[in-house]
Amino acid sequence: MPERFTVTTPIYYVNDVPHIGHAYNEVATDVLARWHRMRGDDTWMLTGTDEHGQKIMRTAAANGVSPQEWTDRLVESAWIPQLELLNIANDDYIRTTSERHKVGVRIFLERLKEAGYIYHGEFEGQYCVGCEEYKTANDLVPGTGEFEGQLVCAIHSRPIEVVREANYFFKLSEFGDRLLALYEERPDYVQPEHVRNEVRQFVKQGLNDLSISRNTFDWGIKVPWDETHVVYVWFEALLNYITANGYGVDDELFARRWPAVHIVGKDIARFHAVIWPAMQMAAGIEISSHVFGHGWLLVGGEKMSKSKATGIEPRQITEVFGVDAFRYYFMSAIAFGSDGSFSWEDLDARYHAELANGLGNLASRVIAMVHKYCDGVVPEVAVDADILALTTDAVGRAERAIDRFAIDEAVDAAMSIVERLNGYITEQAPWVLAKDEAQRDRLAAVLASNVHGIGTAAILLAPVMPDTAQKLWAAVGGEGDVLAQRIQAAHEWQGTGRVTTVPPLFPRIEQAQPAS
Ligand code: MSP
Repeated sequence: MPERFTVTTPIYYVNDVPHIGHAYNEVATDVLARWHRMRGDDTWMLTGTDEHGQKIMRTAAANGVSPQEWTDRLVESAWIPQLELLNIANDDYIRTTSERHKVGVRIFLERLKEAGYIYHGEFEGQYCVGCEEYKTANDLVPGTGEFEGQLVCAIHSRPIEVVREANYFFKLSEFGDRLLALYEERPDYVQPEHVRNEVRQFVKQGLNDLSISRNTFDWGIKVPWDETHVVYVWFEALLNYITANGYGVDDELFARRWPAVHIVGKDIARFHAVIWPAMQMAAGIEISSHVFGHGWLLVGGEKMSKSKATGIEPRQITEVFGVDAFRYYFMSAIAFGSDGSFSWEDLDARYHAELANGLGNLASRVIAMVHKYCDGVVPEVAVDADILALTTDAVGRAERAIDRFAIDEAVDAAMSIVERLNGYITEQAPWVLAKDEAQRDRLAAVLASNVHGIGTAAILLAPVMPDTAQKLWAAVGGEGDVLAQRIQAAHEWQGTGRVTTVPPLFPRIEQAQPAS
């Protein structure tokens, strides 16, 4: 039986176009999904867009269009094209303005109400429209510049708004003990450790009930029993994970896809690891398998964001370095789970050292030698035992790393093959062996070992750099689609066919940073 692997990205706010922080999130989720597909798991990757709420409503108004027109425009012109640009192989795309989402949200709310977890009450809260979140005193910091003297949201550096309304509430406060028990019983439910600790600390301080509706604007999903209210955008957005998977309308599909793994930025881990599991408990739905909170891409030491004008669009990078290098860079240079500072210099240095000189150079040297010394036919001889031990170990390490969401370590394991082979060629000097007829067998073994190593690395790198891996795979004589290979058996592959030519994979780049 294949394992089930349903994995999700957060659904993105469409108030603006995507930047590399969103791309980071999408690529990481895509790498995990591709990896599991290559294992043969029953894999499903879901992504989409979060289209309701005040933030989007105000942006649409500022642009003189209706919120629906605005979200349609942004989804079609920016968010879906970004998935294509980055070669994301998502299986589904959910929009919260879609009918299937609205239907599922209504069913969920009715069930929660019947179960007695919803009530009507008075409310006063401090709201950040940027976060679409009620803030506590701990979340606020003194403002600077034009907001000097006011308290502002620590993430958006903008003043909060006071909301005084009579709303519907979810009895979140009843779930504290059960949530703490969940974190204890399933230590790998929230990862990495520092996010788990933060979430646990937050719950230990005591939970308040959550206001889950608003009645002063109408851009949202109407509360089924009271159409003067729309559902709070976060409450509704979290439900995308189940409304996209048949919840309430197709039980068989839902049973097949659920539960899911959520890959989110650490800033939204609390929603996913506190509010969301409480909602699942209240509705009697199986709790998600994991919530992984990755770090932020930082620019100048701060979370990169459009609102602070530090946003970089993926295209600015892919136009210079290519899509696979983009994917590789962000997956390898930043420990998944930690923050990472983006710089053009670092990207440029790693591109040239690891991809152009490391991987690209290895492939072109080995293929040229197989052509030159063996007429392009991969010698069918045993691979050197130490190279086989190296590739076997690399596959094992990569596999274990993926199970811990340590994507960077998996890439590192794959690249350890490349690094070792470059050293191995220098030590074995095939060009010297080729001059000595008595060394024909040795030469054959060295070349076969190199081809085996490149093929194995191509399979392991395929989830990260699908196009490059396919080119490498074809170049060393691999048959068919590299993505059809079983990743856990990557080290069992041995070349037996003909090498072809390897197109330039990573051309040298003279001017890394586009002139602004
Ligand atoms: N709409 C909510 C999510 C709802 S999920 C039910 C939201 N959207 S967002 O567009 O603001 O952010 C989407 C994701 O992008 C979040 O995981 C967030 O952490 C991530 N990132 C936004 N800026 C980022 C960086 N600078 N670095 C890394 N990830 C970043 O929140």
